[in-house]
Amino acid sequence: MKALTVVPLQKGSAALSDVDDPPESDGPVLVETLGVGICGTDAEILSGAYGWAPPGRERLILGHESLGRVLDAPAGAPVSAGDLVVGIVRRPDPVPCGNCAVGEWDFCRNGKYTERGIKEHDGYLSERYRITPDFVVKVDSSLGILGVLLEPTSVVAKAWEQVDKIGHRAHWEPRTAVITGAGPIGLLAALIGVQRGLEVHVIDQMTAGKKPDLVRALGAQYHTGVIADAVDGPDVVIECTGVSALVLDAMEHVGPGGVVCLTGVSSGGREISVDEGQLNRSMVLANEAVVGSVNANRRHYEAGADALAKADRNWLDQLVSRKVPLDRWQEALQRTPDDVKVVVEVSQA
Ligand code: BGC
Repeated sequence: MKALTVVPLQKGSAALSDVDDPPESDGPVLVETLGVGICGTDAEILSGAYGWAPPGRERLILGHESLGRVLDAPAGAPVSAGDLVVGIVRRPDPVPCGNCAVGEWDFCRNGKYTERGIKEHDGYLSERYRITPDFVVKVDSSLGILGVLLEPTSVVAKAWEQVDKIGHRAHWEPRTAVITGAGPIGLLAALIGVQRGLEVHVIDQMTAGKKPDLVRALGAQYHTGVIADAVDGPDVVIECTGVSALVLDAMEHVGPGGVVCLTGVSSGGREISVDEGQLNRSMVLANEAVVGSVNANRRHYEAGADALAKADRNWLDQLVSRKVPLDRWQEALQRTPDDVKVVVEVSQA
């Protein structure tokens, strides 16, 4: 079968390869891939900056934001032939650590987890894949190809869960939220904020085009400046860019008792100056919290599936800005200013 493969840490190594059928060892559920979303992590892997091949192999099958249709599943599995499904990305470490042992692999403590399409386990950008029933999540069939948005939605569902858990350390009645970045993660974080009834402000640098319209269509407000110009002391900031200046802006301007959740992965190597004493003082005196959040466990995929099922289909449809067939995969990597989520289409939904 065809698959998009890459030699991790080797720039320019991506190729459409002929690979063996998915191994039985990956699980008894056989899935036909319909589409795979491309994200910043894939771009990092393709640029040679990130990623790990499976042990003893040179190449890794790329792709972790999947949507597929079940071709075959054993009796008693929670999915059956014809269902639209998404594969969970992370697998628990084999030790396992305390968190992995209880299904909280997104909090793996020893770093020995694997991730499909990223770390030591083939991804989903192949014509078919196999998976175990406990790592496959069913999506509302009316979503069609839009189900490919579930993996990024699971990541923000986890971020919102972190915000809630921390918020509830005291009386917690959040009213305002700022989301920095209007890429797919930021827009999906804004969607969940609006679904929760919050006043949501999204900050991005684009002054025109699709992103401001998508934010306004949600009922949220769009801004291009800094947090202080958008709203005074928000209860929640979900930082979705990893850009140092925005991370600091979030820490400096979150409201008293507020929670900043960092979801962006910074590239590092850039230094900016900060008055640490002042930052420390304001965070301590107002009980502010900053938390990092990565990946998602099954509970977050289920919360994400609910959020997508409730969302306006036309709005979600605009998030998938381009679909590129597998044999023209290179086009998926050439980003245009109006791109939000680009999907490599492997088979028709
Ligand atoms: C994925 C996560 C993963 C992270 C780090 C993200 O792009 O969505 O599932 O844990 O990269 O590898």
